[in-house]
Amino acid sequence: MANKSKFQAIKGTRDLLPPETALWNHVEQTAHEVFRTFGFGEIRVPIFEPTELFARSIGEDTDVVGKEMYTFSDRPAPTEGEANGSESSLATRHSPLATSISLRPEATASVCRAYIEHSMQQLPQPVKLYYTGPMFRRERPQKGRYRQFYQIGAEVLGGQDAPAIDAELIEMLMTFFDKLELKGIELDINSIGHNAPNCRPAYVELLRAELTKVKDKLGADSQRRIDTNPLRVLDSKLESEQPIIAKLPHIADHLCPECAAHYAAVKQQLQLRGIIYRENWRLVRGLDYYMRTTFEITAPGLGSQNAVCGGGRYDGLVELLGGPPTKGIGFAIGEDRLILSLQEQARQSEADPERAARAASANSPPATRHSPLLIYIAWMGQNTYATAVRAAKDLRNAGFSVELPPSELKFGKALGQADKLGAKFALILGEDEVTEGLWTLKTLDDGAQIKLPEPALIEHLRKSS
Ligand code: HAM
Repeated sequence: MANKSKFQAIKGTRDLLPPETALWNHVEQTAHEVFRTFGFGEIRVPIFEPTELFARSIGEDTDVVGKEMYTFSDRPAPTEGEANGSESSLATRHSPLATSISLRPEATASVCRAYIEHSMQQLPQPVKLYYTGPMFRRERPQKGRYRQFYQIGAEVLGGQDAPAIDAELIEMLMTFFDKLELKGIELDINSIGHNAPNCRPAYVELLRAELTKVKDKLGADSQRRIDTNPLRVLDSKLESEQPIIAKLPHIADHLCPECAAHYAAVKQQLQLRGIIYRENWRLVRGLDYYMRTTFEITAPGLGSQNAVCGGGRYDGLVELLGGPPTKGIGFAIGEDRLILSLQEQARQSEADPERAARAASANSPPATRHSPLLIYIAWMGQNTYATAVRAAKDLRNAGFSVELPPSELKFGKALGQADKLGAKFALILGEDEVTEGLWTLKTLDDGAQIKLPEPALIEHLRKSS
């Protein structure tokens, strides 16, 4: 007997359905528009890459690489027999010749790989690229945390490391959130110095020494990190560790003169642009490639997973991946979280009439507006169908959303359907309308009806939408 068990989306993945997908499109469209005005071009990179690419750039000891990647061995190239159609055995599919591949947990590494692969250092610098798409991390799913999630990211590669670049990138982010009318976001910034002995490594040693003194009071994760990566202890959310962490030395007091000057200039550049920020000395980020500027943006309505964007500078990453010495800085927005926050904001607006009125303005994202203007064509009589098909074509060409029932319905039933679909108008086409050349347009909210000659219809609809 056939197995009738039901399939469900794998834990941590989900389907995005209409009408919510309209909001996703709106967010992505806004990114395309805003990023273009800052001179960014779109890059599309593969969804899987050699595991080594992520291990080398993000770092072997990070949670992302150590615990969260979806990694598998690819089949080795087919032998002659297999290429001719015979099945490969399980043994050859998992042979040691197979390459280790991972689903991308982020896209910065891929963008750097592409920069090298396509010799983009020969283009005018810096090269400004952005991307949107799914990423994969095997994290514990919860609100705002998924195993397949979506990022909108941007990277600036090559050229100088001028602090104005860091500030302008953050300005682009703020413009994007502003265009989406997302309220209540907060920007945290920090500098984590660079890898010279008189800068971050000296601070890390100091931190290690301080943490060793209080080791007994720390949780197991932080105790382990004293050896592997003491900076990550600063990330800890464990309640009992907070008073201890509060007393640790701050990296800002231990930056080398060049990094300190860079950080000061970034802050000055942000002020010049009127961007409000909070300095957060504990913002170290969870990926190894960062140096100097790091930043994160949090948004309301998300609970504990409230970071909607993270980014920072990563001079040296391209070189680490085999390319020429190259400056780099970028960010990635968590699109799922951004959408959740916009939806939460829209829900609160609906509960507050004054905010609802403001949200209904033309600029608001679709989450806060009614469904798009929909015209339902209620036709009756086989001779009117050809006219209905033509009307649907003309209305769609004019940009309206049109529902044309595929088979004849009594007017009462058709209007009931139109109502259920949330249509704003019903275009009524019966034998009389077609013969007279005067079409009936009914507004479903109040039942008002007018008769219009066909050529005036589109103009009338444009005025009433
Ligand atoms: P990240 O901080 O790992 O940075 O991720 C950026 C954003 O992606 C987070 O702030 C969050 O909004 C979202 N995110 C991460 N993991 C999940 C998840 N499991 N579920 C939902 N959303 C998630 C990066 O990925 C860097 N590549 C950013 C970057 C670009 N730095 C420089 N250039």
